[in-house]
Amino acid sequence: MSDAPSPSVVLSNIRHRYGRLTAVDDVSLSVAAREVVCIVGPSGCGKSTLLRLISGLETVQAGTIAVEGATLATPDRSLPPERRPVGMMFQDFALFPHLTVAGNIAFGQTDRPRAERKRRVAELLETMALARYADAYPHTLSGGQQQRVALARAMARDPKVLLLDEPFSALDEQLRRSVREEVVRIIRASGIATIVVTHDPEEAMEMGNRVVVMEAGRIVQADTPVTLYHRPANSFVARLFGEVNRFEATVRDGALDTPLGRLPAPALPSGTRVEVACRVEDLELTAPGARPNAVPVRVRHSSFLGASTRVCLDLPGGGPEIHARLPGHVDVQAGQELAAVVDAARVMVFPAG
Ligand SMILES: Nc1ncnc2c1ncn2[C@@H]1O[C@H](COP(=O)(O)OP(=O)(O)OP(=O)(O)O)[C@@H](O)[C@H]1O
Ligand SMILES: [Mg+2]
Repeated sequence: MSDAPSPSVVLSNIRHRYGRLTAVDDVSLSVAAREVVCIVGPSGCGKSTLLRLISGLETVQAGTIAVEGATLATPDRSLPPERRPVGMMFQDFALFPHLTVAGNIAFGQTDRPRAERKRRVAELLETMALARYADAYPHTLSGGQQQRVALARAMARDPKVLLLDEPFSALDEQLRRSVREEVVRIIRASGIATIVVTHDPEEAMEMGNRVVVMEAGRIVQADTPVTLYHRPANSFVARLFGEVNRFEATVRDGALDTPLGRLPAPALPSGTRVEVACRVEDLELTAPGARPNAVPVRVRHSSFLGASTRVCLDLPGGGPEIHARLPGHVDVQAGQELAAVVDAARVMVFPAG
């Protein structure tokens, strides 16, 4: 017996066009029970379309969608949304203003006996710490409470898959953090396979067992947050998860000459054009002359950001502006002469272009 969790949702070669625009382009993805997968990517890359296809709000044009071994949708056969074991929560929660909290949660369970519906609503009110608000109307609740009602409503039919589309974007920064932790706790305790769409790479890394990066309708990389950050598939993924310094370079005798010095590139033949990327926090700043392979730099300006300080640096002979990120308590002054060193092991090299 293998310990690998069996997939709950399986998307195979999904493609979706709106007229001539291909919004989802040959996407295959499996999400296991107990797994939270976050989809991140720029606006318009097809994230919501993918969720709408799983929930049945869009018809599958190519490919198949299955949940726990049962096919939900192919181009020829499609279960209507209300018969799919899928719970969906949208960005704006869309609570019914004329229904109480309990009424909102009960909505959509009409196919169940009344007693069972009541029991499930009571259970969810308890789980979401909303019991005392059962008879309240949505407009009397805080943003975080409304969010929990929306989540309870999505979970009311005991879905096998939960889909959350930008679930926290309507909340302010502070509330967002606490509501997010709470929601993750509830989802993990429920064990439901969950897909969360977000714009925010940090949110994706915090919530997801795995993070899927989409660009222009395609999955570019699907990996754990650690792997995505340290071993991005390409320069786009590298930049999505944090600021990088980028240079074009050509391999010569197993090395690369960059504005930050000579770096090893042993696996590549001479003449290969590459893009070299180095995360801003991987650039170490020292006193001039303190390290033999350090490159002299001058501080153009620095911005104190609390937890960190972002430093903008000029190279003496001109060339690209370099950025570094230091702990916030480090004091750096404009005009200061320093030296920059990059740890060769942390430099990322991608094919040029
Ligand atoms: N109903 C529609 N008709 C035509 N084009 C659509 C429709 N819905 C989405 N699109 C287009 O399909 C592409 C993907 O849209 P989608 O909503 O999936 O993107 P998204 O990744 O969710 O973006 P965002 O982060 O802005 O929510 C976009 O170019 C969008 O303009
Ligand atoms: Mg969207």
